[in-house]
Amino acid sequence: MNCRITLLKGDGIGPEVIDGATAVLNAVERKFCHDFGLNSMPFGGNALDLTGVPLPEETLNACKRSDAVLVGAVGGPQWNDIKPHNRPERALISLRSALGLYAGLYPAVLYPALAPSSALRADVAKRGADILLVRELSGGIYNGEHGYRDGALGQEAYDTDVYSISAVERIADMAFELARTRKRRVASVDKANVLTASKLWRATVDRVAKGYPDVEIVHKHIGNCAVELLTRPDEFDVILTSGLFGDMLVSELAAITGSIGMLPSCVVGKGAISIYGAVHGSAPDIAGKDAANPIGAILSAAMLLASSLGLRTEAAAIDKAVKTTLAKGLRTKDIAHGKKYVTCSRMAEEIAINVFNA
Ligand code: IPM
Ligand code: MN
Repeated sequence: MNCRITLLKGDGIGPEVIDGATAVLNAVERKFCHDFGLNSMPFGGNALDLTGVPLPEETLNACKRSDAVLVGAVGGPQWNDIKPHNRPERALISLRSALGLYAGLYPAVLYPALAPSSALRADVAKRGADILLVRELSGGIYNGEHGYRDGALGQEAYDTDVYSISAVERIADMAFELARTRKRRVASVDKANVLTASKLWRATVDRVAKGYPDVEIVHKHIGNCAVELLTRPDEFDVILTSGLFGDMLVSELAAITGSIGMLPSCVVGKGAISIYGAVHGSAPDIAGKDAANPIGAILSAAMLLASSLGLRTEAAAIDKAVKTTLAKGLRTKDIAHGKKYVTCSRMAEEIAINVFNA
């Protein structure tokens, strides 16, 4: 297959984990005779330094011409003083909206064998968890009006939480459809006791739920959900929530599965180009040290092959190579528990070799 994958390495550990994913994608190209047309473009803070904007026109155009996009991470303390509209993080938000993407999908599995890495109490972790978080990304407080203004007490800043009925219907439909391929349970998470946008969210989800009588729907407030994920994560199947609450819960899921470095994700729209990437951030504290875990980026590349290119065999080869490499005992620092560990590039090389030899 000949196709075009745009790589947005971004900032911090982004370039290191994307280089790791590239090594693995190169192994897939050689083994299965593909040309993925891997092409790297500036994005986030490095693009800001280079061109004055976090999402340059050329980067956006390259993404639009691609079959799929693989992103590293954006942001870092050196851009803390940049105005919100031009921050590195805006690159990702603008790219999602320019590509018409509205749903973030975050699968998180806690394997009982990896329970020691989990932040959960041992007896809870032992029961395992298999959760898919579905996150609305086109509306909500990330995308409402924001700015500065003069208030009664002087200057103030504001962000607006906005949800349209149609945006909630569309994401709810997706969550219910996905639940049908799983355990048929949806937990919709909001703050409907306080927020107007959450009230509309809850009423809309209830209406959509009527079309899926075979799927169980429960509503939870964000605080309650955060607690239940710690006490009975095994009772969750699909979590449906907004952009901001989703951001928080994904981080909690990372701690629950014990592997913030290992979780992949994708952001999709209807028939549009999708963006794939690990859930971790740019981790400035370990950037440039070859110490990151590339597995989240590598599993995201596998998701990309399966979902955007239909290459299921190739994706399965990557998943298997990751498992083989972990079974051999190779660990990056974050999952080594004080034992011996390898560098980011070494981990990626080993996975690439295992893909090639599988
Ligand atoms: C993520 C990131 C982004 C988000 C930021 C960088 C805009 O944290 O993908 O979770 O919150 O959506
Ligand atoms: Mn996040």
